[in-house]
Amino acid sequence: MLTRVAVSLFISLGAYAQTVFMAGDSTMAPGGGGSGTDGWGQYLGQFLTIPVVNDAIAGRSARSYTDEGRFTTLTSSVKSGDFVIIEFGHNDGLSGTTDNGRQDSFGDSLTATTTVTLANGTSAVIHTFNFYMQQAVTGLKAKGANVIVSSQTPDDIWTGTSIGAPPRFVQYAKEVAGNNTGVAYVDHYAYVAQAYDKLGESAVDPFYPIDHTHTLPAGATVVAEAFVRGLLCGGSALSAKVNAAGKAVPNGCV
Ligand SMILES: *[C@@H]1O[C@H](CO)[C@@H](O)[C@H](O)[C@H]1NC(C)=O
Ligand SMILES: *[C@@H]1O[C@H](CO)[C@@H](O)[C@H](O)[C@H]1NC(C)=O
Repeated sequence: MLTRVAVSLFISLGAYAQTVFMAGDSTMAPGGGGSGTDGWGQYLGQFLTIPVVNDAIAGRSARSYTDEGRFTTLTSSVKSGDFVIIEFGHNDGLSGTTDNGRQDSFGDSLTATTTVTLANGTSAVIHTFNFYMQQAVTGLKAKGANVIVSSQTPDDIWTGTSIGAPPRFVQYAKEVAGNNTGVAYVDHYAYVAQAYDKLGESAVDPFYPIDHTHTLPAGATVVAEAFVRGLLCGGSALSAKVNAAGKAVPNGCV
């Protein structure tokens, strides 16, 4: 009897031996940018065989997610073998003369810094996107997590019949993954662009009710499907946790 209890306990825990954690901004977060929009992280779980914890928060950048201690909390939560998807860029751009608390130092150097004036008038030293991302990756890898760096999603901005060219944070994200053994890269920008280009602007525009960044659930689902396609085409161990619905998402490898 004891043995049977122990075995069934083992099986039920075993079913959740791994968890997928997600770190990102409003394009991934529960509730998206408000007004009925939602982040794509809310639509990923239906395509996987293991649970998803969506720790994305609206308005955050690689820097502010770091400064608020969120990567530290995430790193202390993960167990060896868990997966962590990190996707930033929408809020990482330069903010002008007064620091907005989330811009990064320009460029992809791991050592360059910029001294900025905070909103309250004091000065602070900030680092690059790559610095903050690298720091997070280093901590997560030390915990034994399988890290996936994902490039930011496109905005609903078109050049002719195609989604416009990627911003610099897409290349930066690729570099972070490339510089870290065992860290996978999903070019989410390219996979969403592929899906959107196929659908066409007249089908994609209605996904965006408030601005060119935040999707309704229908759009967030397309963005989640595009991530799964990129995952299946790439080298992450998480692709082994994609279920039948995930294997059936549209489009091919780019
Ligand atoms: C200014 O804001 C920063 C960041 O929130 C804070 O660390 C610092 O203590 C503040 N300085 C003053 C003088 O209020
Ligand atoms: C990748 O590593 C190279 C060489 O160490 C470094 O110059 C570059 O800044 C790194 N880039 C990123 C994005 O980590």
